[in-house]
Amino acid sequence: MKALSIERVDGKPGQVYYPLKQVDLPKPTVKPGEVLVRILAAALNHREVFIRQSLYPGINFETPLGADGVGIVVETASPDLDKAWKGKRVLLTPGRGWQDSEDGPEGKYTVVGGTVGVSHGTFQEYVALPAAEIEEAPAHLSVPEAAALPLAGLTAWRATFTKGRVAAGQNVLITGIGGGVALFALQFAVAAGATVFVTSGSEEKLTKAKELGAADGAIYKKEDWSKQLRGLLPKSRPYLDVVIDGAGADIVLQTYSLLKLGGAVVSYGMTVNPKVVFPMQAVLKNIELRGSTMGSRREFGAMVQFVAAKGVKPVVSMVVPGMDRADEAFEAMRRGTQFGKLVVLLDERGDSSKL
Ligand SMILES: NC(=O)c1ccc[n+]([C@@H]2O[C@H](COP(=O)([O-])OP(=O)(O)OC[C@H]3O[C@@H](n4cnc5c(N)ncnc54)[C@H](OP(=O)(O)O)[C@@H]3O)[C@@H](O)[C@H]2O)c1
Repeated sequence: MKALSIERVDGKPGQVYYPLKQVDLPKPTVKPGEVLVRILAAALNHREVFIRQSLYPGINFETPLGADGVGIVVETASPDLDKAWKGKRVLLTPGRGWQDSEDGPEGKYTVVGGTVGVSHGTFQEYVALPAAEIEEAPAHLSVPEAAALPLAGLTAWRATFTKGRVAAGQNVLITGIGGGVALFALQFAVAAGATVFVTSGSEEKLTKAKELGAADGAIYKKEDWSKQLRGLLPKSRPYLDVVIDGAGADIVLQTYSLLKLGGAVVSYGMTVNPKVVFPMQAVLKNIELRGSTMGSRREFGAMVQFVAAKGVKPVVSMVVPGMDRADEAFEAMRRGTQFGKLVVLLDERGDSSKL
């Protein structure tokens, strides 16, 4: 079967950009308790760019890339599993080592694809994995939309609900709304009845975010963006309850005065700077900075159920037809031009126009 991994070349972390390499691997076979999934489509997350830049821990050049995937169960290890799963369209869980603790992983946590710990990625034609690591894909999603959901959806779910405790009626700020995780956080918070404000680097993305239910937004490139945001807050609730942030750097400095007493900044990433300044003024307001990373197997199931129940549709920015053209999706992510997820079809049956 065909798979996509990276080729080792010389270069320092941050300067190197490992080229993509298509490889031929043996088709996996199922062990007891496992199912074989024919992958229809896989999606990118920022981590794949970090992997190619050698800025990610535990890179493995032998393991195909990709944590996000949707496929069809084509074979299973037993008649019971056949009955439960054969022919179903499923999502693959993007991490291992975290069952259901709210605090964090119980064991060594591993993200699937391109790293040590798990031997498959989703950029391969077939994956054999335990039946416990799949969820039925919500029926209202197209194949690219389903591929877009797992990792970013799970990260947004935990950041929004488990760590952010977002509830109806609250004011929430979500930064960098063009990002994959940020967009899911927007859709989830809106579906939960919160009033959502956003930031972005472009007016066009702010407009698109409003179409998805954001109340308003500001451009983070403008120095006074947090001042502008203050003017947008409703008079009846003139503060933020929660900030959900993937940028890091000065996010607490920019928002502590907008947050309510005891409000929270949930940080799921630090795209801009891997350090966050935490000023004394935030301490005096009892503000909490809460780290959030992906989520547990239980949270993954809850997120997929929520998406099915609320009819949430992942935003797909680009669908690339075929593994041969995966670099086009990587380039879009590097340029930051995307609004939503970047999906690569691995099987032409993934293209709904060809179904
Ligand atoms: N903790 C976890 O488990 C976890 C999981 C997934 C991702 N992450 C991390 O979260 C971050 C985002 O991941 P992703 O996959 O969603 O990436 P992505 O799709 O590439 O999104 C990155 C976004 O960052 C925004 N951005 C750039 N400069 C910014 C600034 N100065 N202020 C605010 N936002 C800014 C941009 O927003 P606009 O396009 O609107 O300008 C861009 O779309 C990465 O650091 C990633 O490593 C962590």
